[in-house]
Amino acid sequence: MCGIVGYIGGGNVYDVLIKGLHRLEYRGYDSAGIALVNPSGTLNVYKAMGKVSNLENFCKDKNLDALAGIAHTRWATHGEPSDCNAHPHYSEDGNLALVHNGTIENYKLLKDALTQHGCRFHSETDTEVLVQLIEYIKVKNNCSLLDAVREALKQVVGAYAIAVVEKDHPNRIIAARKSSPLVIGIGDDEMFLASDATPFVEYTKECVYLKDEEVAIIERGEPLKLVTLENKEAKIDVTTLELSISQLEKGGYPHFMLKEIFEQTTTLKDCIRGRVVNGGKRIIISGVDDNKEKFLAAKRIVIVACGTSWHAALLGKYLIQDMCRIPVEVEYASEFRYSNPVLDDKDIVMAISQSGETADTLAAIKIAKRMGAFVYGISNVVGSSIPRETDSGTYIHVGPEIGVASTKAFTGQVMVLTMLAAAIAQLRGTMTQEQITEIGKAIQKVPSLVEKVLRLNEKIERLSLIYTYAHNFLYLGRGYSYPVALEGALKLKEISYIHAEGYPAAEMKHGPIALIDEEMPSVIIAPNDHLYEKIVNNVQQVKARSGSIIAIVTEGDTTIRNIADHVLEVPEVPEALSPIVTSIPLQLLSYYIAINKGKNVDMPRNLAKSVTVE
Ligand code: G6P
Repeated sequence: MCGIVGYIGGGNVYDVLIKGLHRLEYRGYDSAGIALVNPSGTLNVYKAMGKVSNLENFCKDKNLDALAGIAHTRWATHGEPSDCNAHPHYSEDGNLALVHNGTIENYKLLKDALTQHGCRFHSETDTEVLVQLIEYIKVKNNCSLLDAVREALKQVVGAYAIAVVEKDHPNRIIAARKSSPLVIGIGDDEMFLASDATPFVEYTKECVYLKDEEVAIIERGEPLKLVTLENKEAKIDVTTLELSISQLEKGGYPHFMLKEIFEQTTTLKDCIRGRVVNGGKRIIISGVDDNKEKFLAAKRIVIVACGTSWHAALLGKYLIQDMCRIPVEVEYASEFRYSNPVLDDKDIVMAISQSGETADTLAAIKIAKRMGAFVYGISNVVGSSIPRETDSGTYIHVGPEIGVASTKAFTGQVMVLTMLAAAIAQLRGTMTQEQITEIGKAIQKVPSLVEKVLRLNEKIERLSLIYTYAHNFLYLGRGYSYPVALEGALKLKEISYIHAEGYPAAEMKHGPIALIDEEMPSVIIAPNDHLYEKIVNNVQQVKARSGSIIAIVTEGDTTIRNIADHVLEVPEVPEALSPIVTSIPLQLLSYYIAINKGKNVDMPRNLAKSVTVE
């Protein structure tokens, strides 16, 4: 949610920043802007509504000379998307420019106080309040920018990642964070800062993740310096990135989403690697053996997540309950955090988040920790906030996911949850060795089976043409296929803007069945599992009301084939692994329907990949 990038060094400042903004565009694309500090002591700010390419066009005939600069791509929170509300924001005297990701909760109070002191505001944003506050303190106390930033941030309630440049100090950027991500790249006589490492991975692999309430002084020719809000020097932990530039490019695919769908054979291999060992006899997931006593004593597991990760969490409930016989509750992180939860040290709270930065999930973790629960995180982005805030956890290892609609991260999360459930079951003795080996061997086969599923691509592309202009869709499933139905419906909504509802198939007769007619297609997920006979009845109920049916079935199915209008066959797998093979055809279906409608699948309207505001 909003992307920040900054650069200081001998390279072309404008080029580095624009390229960086493109990499961060997945975080928001309502407007973009750039502030360039000129060697002659001027501060040029350029902004444009919409995508980064609009900003590039706008900048074509501008003075782009700079020693340092900061830039921003926005996902609007306070104030509609407009040139005026776009970042960077200037201070009143035009000496400072600031970019911000996050939300200043007490901005109204601060704004009123500053207005009384004579400050005038030009935008509706909370960010402008922050830059004016910094300037006000700087002038009033006659202090340095660093001291003014520290003092201002002490008065702020909320979340922020900020970067500030100053007209009179063209060789310096001050940056800080609290609850919104910020990482500093350390190159050879150059430094970068960004919301994640993708803008600078081609220049340096050395980086420093800022911690909450740390302020960075990034100065040309000087080593990086970090201080706390109290001006105490903070320790610098340098991390080496394991990210390659090819992971950030489309690799010949027209969209990141399609690339990421097709990558799933590889990403699932990476996700499984080293975790299923001894011919499937043993499943190792980090954090389980090291915290044996926690997993043995657990009376309950609560899983918190948002969006697609919440659908994976729901599958986690089925998997853990089935394999480990521990009661599991699944909560939307945004609801959990305000629900006055009842937790103690016999509870395990699991947080699932692709980005590792979702504000609500982060807040839920903090509450769970405060209440004494053991907190375990499942994330994709290495070094992000959630893995750093949790007591223990693991990564899904599927590589950067750029498409806003999550695909490979979902299957990676489900795969990790399957392995995690098996590892806990092994520890608690709730599965026999034979059962463990069976699931272990089946897990190892999944990547090659996914390759087979992906061969449905052309068939799904053709099928999509029939359904592109439907106004509503119903997605139905039971058991393990119910969360898949929810996820399939979400994918379609997100990128094609068609209303779609995911429902437990049997629950349909308590309401949604009233909607079924020739105009309302149903996508029914019906693999050959223990509920197969039951879902056949649901398929018949839809057909009896003239509903058009696309069914996802197991290879060789004959019963549903005779009832449904179209079937997509997936390979046979144990029930616990069926969500991985049944969700992929739904990803492709939503992709092609959106493409047929001419939508921008990688950057759907109003959405952002990483939601760092609540
Ligand atoms: C946004 C993204 C979704 C994602 C959700 C949770 O809504 O568009 O794709 O599932 O946030 O994100 P997280 O990074 O916590 O998994």
